[in-house]
Amino acid sequence: MNGKTPHIVQYQGSKRILAPQIMKYMPKRFNRLIEPFSGMAAISIAVAQTKKTGLYYINDLNAPLVNMLKAAVEYPDLLIEKYSALWNKQFDYGLDHVRHFYDVRQQFNDGNESPEIILYLLARCVKGAVRYSKEGKFNQSPDKRRHGTNPQNIKTNLCAVSKLLKGKSKFSALDYREIFAMSRPGDLLYLDPPYQGVSNKKDNRYFSGVSFVEFVSALESLNRKNVDFLISYDGQCGSKEYGEDLPEGLGCRKILLNAGISSQATLLGREATTYEALYISRNLLSSHEHVIPQELMEAAV
Ligand SMILES: C[S@@+](CC[C@H](N)C(=O)[O-])C[C@H]1O[C@@H](n2cnc3c(N)ncnc32)[C@H](O)[C@@H]1O
Repeated sequence: MNGKTPHIVQYQGSKRILAPQIMKYMPKRFNRLIEPFSGMAAISIAVAQTKKTGLYYINDLNAPLVNMLKAAVEYPDLLIEKYSALWNKQFDYGLDHVRHFYDVRQQFNDGNESPEIILYLLARCVKGAVRYSKEGKFNQSPDKRRHGTNPQNIKTNLCAVSKLLKGKSKFSALDYREIFAMSRPGDLLYLDPPYQGVSNKKDNRYFSGVSFVEFVSALESLNRKNVDFLISYDGQCGSKEYGEDLPEGLGCRKILLNAGISSQATLLGREATTYEALYISRNLLSSHEHVIPQELMEAAV
């Protein structure tokens, strides 16, 4: 884990902690890093601390999230100022500061998708988990024990992230298949689709389940174009496996990354290590085999 890598705000499913392990499987250099399922863009931020590439394409179907990332990178001072004003307002509510979260959530659900609003909701909600109802309304609850990330921490992180990505990054809020279609040989795609367990939920305007069959067929299209990719795709905790393996026909190598002790299992009185699967694409293996050390490849399952 690289304690010095900045991050904007907590986000469920963030690969911040795993980023150093994932980057070991990337080529030394590539033209552009593309994250079609960027979430909080943890991998772009981590890669930007290296010299692997100088161009980043950050995409996520969740438009308010991407707009917030864009504001964080391009206008960090303005976002920090607006976030601080919003965050400080909770103290006008006295002991009832939780009601401030519900008021801001209501503003978001009434159509105010300003970057500071989504940033505050994420900074304040339980586990940084974006949850939407079937109608597309943000319905995650506040973490009642905390006030949400304080503006000083946000400032430190936003300034650091902006320094790494400003002037080098493009942003969009499209379906991942449109991003696949615009990718070219020489790009590296890092793919982190939603966990298969959440893929069957009804789609709404911020979130679409990613069907296994469609995802596999989209990966075949990348193989045909000789575009390099890495995929984080579920994994296992103890002996319990999550999600279906990707088909062998894709020619990927599956590696298990150690994601640490499962807090869920610990709560249940068991100790189990969680592993997250990382698939290395066929083209990446054949064209860059020499850059992936043999001892790393031995972790393949
Ligand atoms: C597991 S999260 C990615 C986390 C990210 N790697 C990080 O470190 O923060 C998956 C992301 O996929 C996005 N998503 C879901 N369906 C999508 C689609 N059809 N196209 C693009 N993005 C999608 C979700 O909004 C979510 O942010």
